Amino acid sequence: MKTIFSGIQPSGTLTLGNYLGAMKHFVELQNDNHCYFCIVDEHAITVPQDPLQLRKNIRSLAALYIAAGIDPTKSTLFIQSEVSAHTQLGWIMQCVSYIGELERMTQFKDKSDGKEAVSSALLTYPPLMAADILLYNTDIVPVGEDQKQHLELTRDLAERFNKKYNDIFTIPEVRIPKVGARIMSLTDPTKKMSKSNPNPKSYISMLDDEKTIMKKIKSAVTDSDGIVNYDKENKPAISNLLSIFSLCSGKSIEELENEFKGKGYGEFKQALGEAVIETLKPIHDRYHEIINSEELDHYLDLGAEKANKVASKTLAKAKRAMGLGRKR
Ligand code: TYM
Repeated sequence: MKTIFSGIQPSGTLTLGNYLGAMKHFVELQNDNHCYFCIVDEHAITVPQDPLQLRKNIRSLAALYIAAGIDPTKSTLFIQSEVSAHTQLGWIMQCVSYIGELERMTQFKDKSDGKEAVSSALLTYPPLMAADILLYNTDIVPVGEDQKQHLELTRDLAERFNKKYNDIFTIPEVRIPKVGARIMSLTDPTKKMSKSNPNPKSYISMLDDEKTIMKKIKSAVTDSDGIVNYDKENKPAISNLLSIFSLCSGKSIEELENEFKGKGYGEFKQALGEAVIETLKPIHDRYHEIINSEELDHYLDLGAEKANKVASKTLAKAKRAMGLGRKR
C-alpha cells in the first residue's frame, strides 16, 4: 500500500481540466492506497481573495471532492489551514530553498509577469507545496502536467534536507495521467483550461448546467479540415476534444476516431457534449445533496484530526533534526 497526497486550490469553481487531470484519478487511487486529499486554502491566498468568497469556495471544493467519489471515511479529506504543521514545515522548506530556483518556476513567472506588485508568497509557494507532500511520507503525488516542475523541486528540497540533516523525508514520485494531463482551453488550444481565465467559454466548470455545457462545447474552436482525428501538433483543438471525449466516455481515442470517420464536427460535438453531461450529472446531484449538510463538516473535522496526527509527527522530526527548540 502506497501513500498518496494531492491538493487542489479553492480559488473558484473547478474546471473539467481539474477533474480529468486530477480528481478523477484520485478516486481511482483511493481503494488500494492510503490517500490524503487537501483543500489548499493557504495556497489560494498567495493572490488576493475575497474572504467570504474564499470560505464558500473551500466548502464547495470539499463537497466536490466527495461528489466526485472521494470517500472521506477511506481517504483523509481536509483543509490545509486546519493543520498548522503545513505552514510550519513550509517555513523550514523555505529555509532550504534558494531564491534562484524559486524564480525559475514557470508558474511564478506566468503569474507575476507584467504585474507591478506580487506577494512574496507567490515566490515561496513551492516550498509550502513541498511541505504539504512531505508531511505525510508521501510515495506518489497524482497531478496534472502543470505541477510537474513543482514536484521536481519538492524532490530536490527533500533530498537536500535529508542529506544535510537526517533522513526524515520520503522522496515522492509524481504521477501524471497519460491522457488528459493538460486539458486545453476551448477557445484557444495553445493555453491550458483554467478557472482563472476571464472568458467562461474557455472552460467547462464542474458545476455548469447541461445547457451551458452543450453551448460551450458547440462553440469550442476546431481545426479547419473537418476530420475527427488525433494529431496534437497540427490539430490541437480536435485532439483536445478527443482527449476529453475519451476520458468522459471510457472509449479509446482510436475507437472514437473510427466512430466518427466520415462524420462532421457537428455530430462529434453533440456526442461529446452528451458524454460530458453524463459524466458531470451524478457529481452535480451528489454535490447538491451534501453542500449544506452537517455531514460535510463532520467529514472535514475527521480529516483534520487524522491529518494533524501524522503531520505533527513529521514536523517534530524535522524540527529535531534541524536543532530547533529544546532537546526533549
Ligand atoms: P490547482 O488547484 O491549480 O489544480 C488542481 C489539480 O488540477 C490539475 N489541473 C489540470 N489538469 C489537466 N488539465 C488542466 N487544464 C488542469 N488544470 C489544473 C493540476 O495539475 C492539479 O493536479 N499547486 C497546486 C495545488 C497543490 C498541490 C499540493 C498539488 C498545493 N499543494 C501538493 C499536489 C500536491 C495547484 O495549484 O493546483
